Amino acid sequence: MTILITGATGLIGKELTQLLLAKKHTVHYLTTSKSKIGEQFGCIGFYWNPQEGKIDENCLYGVDVIVHLAGANIAHRWTNTYKQEIIESRILSGELLFNLVKKHPNQVKQIISASGISIYPESFSTVYDETTLDSEDSFLSNVVKKWEEAADRFQVLGLKVCKLRTGIVLSNKGGALPEMVKPIKLGFGAAMGSGKQIQSWIHIADLVAIYSFVIENQLEGVFNAVAPNTVSNQQLTKVIAQRLQKPLLLPRIPKFVMQLVLGEMSYLLFSSKNLSAQKIIQAGYRFQFPEIDKAIANLYP
Ligand SMILES: NC(=O)c1ccc[n+]([C@@H]2O[C@H](COP(=O)([O-])OP(=O)(O)OC[C@H]3O[C@@H](n4cnc5c(N)ncnc54)[C@H](OP(=O)(O)O)[C@@H]3O)[C@@H](O)[C@H]2O)c1
Repeated sequence: MTILITGATGLIGKELTQLLLAKKHTVHYLTTSKSKIGEQFGCIGFYWNPQEGKIDENCLYGVDVIVHLAGANIAHRWTNTYKQEIIESRILSGELLFNLVKKHPNQVKQIISASGISIYPESFSTVYDETTLDSEDSFLSNVVKKWEEAADRFQVLGLKVCKLRTGIVLSNKGGALPEMVKPIKLGFGAAMGSGKQIQSWIHIADLVAIYSFVIENQLEGVFNAVAPNTVSNQQLTKVIAQRLQKPLLLPRIPKFVMQLVLGEMSYLLFSSKNLSAQKIIQAGYRFQFPEIDKAIANLYP
């Protein structure tokens, strides 16, 4: 198959590209940076600029599936301007893709959009699955709702639409985990706030395997992309410290301190999302890393 990926140069996109190439798929990708067009070995890169409505139409040639990962990284201080960028980078890019597929002859059958778990309500004990209609009223939750609506529009063009509500992606190459590892390595590791907040995480190898599984089985609808065994922030911090053979000496870090340091973005550290992985398991996906200790051991051997 030929798969067009947006955001292919990012943490998830790079790993996904490698997996799809290993499975002998052809990969096209869209990048906002002209210097990255030749960067992904074995793939064909195309330029786009969603802000200016520019896209190289040739990217669609022969494409069966679109994977939409592009979006401004949420781990930056949430100023009003940056909040706007977080939303627009996902919505304008989705609209540009939509108009491309609508206006040009093509053979695209499916679009898979990254999505987030912040759409779910805060929870410690209740485990939420994809059927829940409850949602949170927060900045990120509203981003996710708009992001999913933009993906759903592709249904009118006859495409299967799949949305992967992705938990905290664990990788040793970027994202949240190396940021958690740094202070622990230096002996400054500590849980955040009460430490009881639930972290719905996923090993990056499982996440990209789920993208591939969704493509191979032409799945549609919403799926949580989270490991079946969630952990509290305190447990996760402990597992990392044990793996690195470092003690956790400091008391837990109060919420107000991180609010002062990070502003509204501190939400990412303290929100508690307890999510079910049953739907993707029932669809036939088998997790390589269902348990946190084995996931961390694999990433920090
Ligand atoms: N990592 C996680 O823990 C996690 C969890 C849940 C959901 N997700 C979502 O999954 C997607 C991929 O995540 P990731 O961790 O791989 O992100 P990432 O490393 O930040 O990469 C995202 C890619 O999006 C493109 N991009 C950045 N700003 C853009 C903008 N303003 N307009 C258009 N494209 C832009 C960039 O590609 P170019 O420079 O090539 O254009 C970048 O490589 C994101 O939408 C993210 O929100 C990630």
